[in-house]
Amino acid sequence: MKEPLILGIESSCDETAAAVIRGRMLLSDEIISSAAVQAKYGGVVPEIASRAHTDAIGEVTARALHAAHVQKEELDAVAVTYGAGLLGALLVGLSFAKGLAYSLNIPLIGVNHIRGHLAACYLEDEDLKPPFVTLLASGGHTAILYTKTETEFEILGGTLDDAAGEAFDKVARVLSLPYPGGPHIEALAREGRNVIPMPKMLKGLGGYDFSYSGLKTHIINYAHTMSQKGAPWSKADLACSFQHAALDILVEKAVEAAREKGAGTVTAGGGVIANGYLRDSLAAACAKAGLKLVLPAKKRCTDNAAMIAAEGLIQYRAGNFSPLTLNAAASIPLR
Ligand code: KG4
Ligand code: ZN
Repeated sequence: MKEPLILGIESSCDETAAAVIRGRMLLSDEIISSAAVQAKYGGVVPEIASRAHTDAIGEVTARALHAAHVQKEELDAVAVTYGAGLLGALLVGLSFAKGLAYSLNIPLIGVNHIRGHLAACYLEDEDLKPPFVTLLASGGHTAILYTKTETEFEILGGTLDDAAGEAFDKVARVLSLPYPGGPHIEALAREGRNVIPMPKMLKGLGGYDFSYSGLKTHIINYAHTMSQKGAPWSKADLACSFQHAALDILVEKAVEAAREKGAGTVTAGGGVIANGYLRDSLAAACAKAGLKLVLPAKKRCTDNAAMIAAEGLIQYRAGNFSPLTLNAAASIPLR
């Protein structure tokens, strides 16, 4: 049987993205980003994001079809993020996808953005099959999941307050680094050492839960106290020490969950998984524990449309199509 040809569209935040897959094979993956404009404001301004999506959506889709050597008439379905995200931003991608699906008379598949992040790993390994343990770490969510089938998972634990990406963004602000903070902290941390003690409570939480608010407050207090005293301190050492404290716990708990669940494989998804230190630590810990590790390519950890198409494929196979009345949702639960 011929694998379905699916166009994915993503516009939940500041990236306007389109991608084409045939089955699990990625044919194209295009992004037009308004991140550089947003960086001037220290975060994403919703109105600017919506207008940038309106400018870019036609162009990015044309690029994705062209790069995949596909005519739109050949598509079997259009998968699009309908939530969670900025409402005005989501509506641009969703309305465009509806128009396309309607005019081509093919199914529309509304995709939960976070489930897209979880599905990104399927594009990396044709043979990847649940069950496995998944580490989710994005700007809005951080959790450890047990993925039972392609459409079912159990949440083993998660953050009790800030998401990991959010903690990186807030700490970046304290260190006067641009938005989004993750890549800038990672770069600065490479020049520093893990020598500043971090609060122990992060490790103290039982099960698979963790908390970032104490760590964030500790960093803010440290920077203010040292500056007030006029004492010399290294931003790079603080970035490095924070990065270790924020990420080591995720690696530890993901490996522990795989051991407890008897899962032989660990996967991951979300913007924070682009972090090189985290990727290396996961690889080392999984190798030591005899676990297979499947990570999305770095550019498919942050927002992209290939992951939306990948989740679209799962829903397509399950026969889950959306009506043309589907609306955007600012927040939707993980499941
Ligand atoms: O998954 P994502 O692109 O958007 C959401 O769906 O939330 O995640 C964005 C988050 C931001 O908080 C950003 O700072 C973080 O991912 N991030 C990183 C890195 N690249 C992006 N965090 C740590 N290290 C990175 N290299
Ligand atoms: Zn995302």
